[in-house]
Amino acid sequence: MTSAHLTFDHTSDKIANRVVKMRSSAVRDLFAAASNPNIISLSGGMPDVSLLPHAAIRKATRAACDDERAVALQYGSTDGRVETKRVFCDLMRDIGVRAKPENVMITTGAQEALDLIAKTFVNPGDIVLAEGPTYLGALQAFSAYEPDIRCIPFDDEGMRMDLLEEELARIGKGNPRLKFLYTIPNFQNPGGVTMVPARRKRLIELSHEYGFMVVEDDPYGRLRYEGGHVLPLKALSDDVVYLGTVSKVFAPGLRTGWVVAPKSVLAKINLVKQGTDLCGSAFNQVVVEHYFTDTPWQKTLRTFVNTYRTRRDAMLAALDEHFPPEASWTRPEGGFFVWVTLPDYVDTGSMLGAALEHGVTYTPGDGFFPDGKTGKNCMRIAFCYESPENLAEAVKRLAGVINERLELYRAFIDAGALPNAGRADAASRSGTQS
Ligand SMILES: Cc1ncc(COP(=O)(O)O)c(C=O)c1O
Repeated sequence: MTSAHLTFDHTSDKIANRVVKMRSSAVRDLFAAASNPNIISLSGGMPDVSLLPHAAIRKATRAACDDERAVALQYGSTDGRVETKRVFCDLMRDIGVRAKPENVMITTGAQEALDLIAKTFVNPGDIVLAEGPTYLGALQAFSAYEPDIRCIPFDDEGMRMDLLEEELARIGKGNPRLKFLYTIPNFQNPGGVTMVPARRKRLIELSHEYGFMVVEDDPYGRLRYEGGHVLPLKALSDDVVYLGTVSKVFAPGLRTGWVVAPKSVLAKINLVKQGTDLCGSAFNQVVVEHYFTDTPWQKTLRTFVNTYRTRRDAMLAALDEHFPPEASWTRPEGGFFVWVTLPDYVDTGSMLGAALEHGVTYTPGDGFFPDGKTGKNCMRIAFCYESPENLAEAVKRLAGVINERLELYRAFIDAGALPNAGRADAASRSGTQS
């Protein structure tokens, strides 16, 4: 048999069910389009690493190449270098959490931690709770283990505790299928909203009452542009499993994150990680240690915060100016994202082609829900990467595309072509073809 016969189709009927069910991340798919210089991308959540000072990077990397290369180039322990753990304990102390190195594990970004947690705790059919919409990388990681993911809506104050309580009442106290609740309490991805202190307190109470683990994912917590620091869930209860990452405050290319959790949880995750990658990159851990101990990283963080604040303000001002009154959106106090809700007859997935033609991309809302159906009239727009001028231009272009849809819909209504306005997403579909 020649290699030409060894096509992928040859094995396609052998793929595991959990992979057949997986959907590609719309964001990953959009990266290709985003590389076109004529298109302004509001789709990816990439930090602007051009803001990092070269001298600091060189200094941190030199340590891994010179003095510490013997350890940096070698396998390390599965849970990570103790020196790196100490650095992360210091970062945790700044945000109000007292953590000891024995409660810390280093991971290959927070993404690996999401996979390890699901792999450790979830049997097919187990219940996982999360904000809806939620981070699509978490949905991808969890879905491999075939959970029943139930979404709890949020409002401007974060996850709705009244709706969580209703869901918990349906699930029942002590239900062994309920494994954990996943939340991004600060500047949620994709919602941009922050959970207020009273809801954080209530969430912890409910976790104790109903016996579920809380997984707190906090990549954006230090990127606050207004308002005061809110204590993490981890500061309210030792039982919380906290996920940190250097991706948004330093560089995602280092693929370094950490978990702070009770020792019993870490011991199990450690076993699973051994089978996944033996250990994370010691080289990258050495670089991260030096970055956070020997370079003025707080100054760089201030640059990040000031830059992203200006970009957020530019996006919000452009939304106020150009978006139609039928649209609503969140006003994030930090992080990277604004969540936009359009009338329910607009399908943001089918609108994406028109947006690309107008030179702008965004992420359609349905990818942030496990059923792939909810949120079709929503979109996530990111302000982290483009200049304020580009953001203003992108929002203007997007408003043009949306207004075309709305006008088309109104024309259908006026012409009496849509007797049932509730099913009007036919209007947006035919709009795609026009
Ligand atoms: C909420 C959330 N969690 C986790 C991640 C993954 O982070 P990391 O780069 O540390 O794997 C991201 C990345 O965008 C994110 O937004």
